[in-house]
Amino acid sequence: MDLYEAIRKRRTIRKFKGPATEKQLNRIIAAGTQAPSAGNRQSWEFIIIDDPGLIQKVSTIKYKLNLVYKFPDIEKCQSPEQIAASQGPAQRESFANASLVMIYHRKRGRFQDASAWLCIENMSLAAVAEGLGLRIATFWGKAIGEINQLLHVPEEFKLAAALSIGVPAEEPVKKIHRQEGSWLHRNGF
Ligand SMILES: Cc1cc2nc3c(=O)[nH]c(=O)nc-3n(C[C@H](O)[C@H](O)[C@H](O)COP(=O)(O)O)c2cc1C
Repeated sequence: MDLYEAIRKRRTIRKFKGPATEKQLNRIIAAGTQAPSAGNRQSWEFIIIDDPGLIQKVSTIKYKLNLVYKFPDIEKCQSPEQIAASQGPAQRESFANASLVMIYHRKRGRFQDASAWLCIENMSLAAVAEGLGLRIATFWGKAIGEINQLLHVPEEFKLAAALSIGVPAEEPVKKIHRQEGSWLHRNGF
């Protein structure tokens, strides 16, 4: 698949009808590890979670987090479909029938978080190449501590995101795009 086509096709999928195979997961993770990283530290760590009980616990933590989440004004470009997709129930459902991969990076060192996110984008595009859907889930506040405790994560690592990866069971929600070129400046802001 042409790279530009994969970039265009990549959309967030939040409903799945089956997990990725182990081989697909390995290829997707390998693609992630090809990403650039600050100082070439490659400080990403992946936890594949295939224990249904653990998946259930992570999904409940995310559900509770997003039950009370309100989009700030700055996020006005959200369509009603996107807002609905961000609510608690949709966030919990996204963990069902999918593989779950947690991405961690070392806290120490500059831009290790940025490097982990580049890895996540590589994984997102690799999922497209595999014909799979992918959903990024992020956590904040006390939820991060709860997840780290659940997964016995050492203190020196920080959670970037949880990725649900699997066979898509929906079309992506409608997305509002900023007007093309509205982000472009020349010789100053
Ligand atoms: C940093 C970051 C955090 C995100 N966190 C979540 C999340 O917690 N839950 C979720 O369903 N989607 C999450 N997303 C997906 C966005 O909602 C999605 O990318 C956005 O609505 C644009 O849609 P698209 O990916 O289909 O182009 C996140 C994406 C990014 C880049």
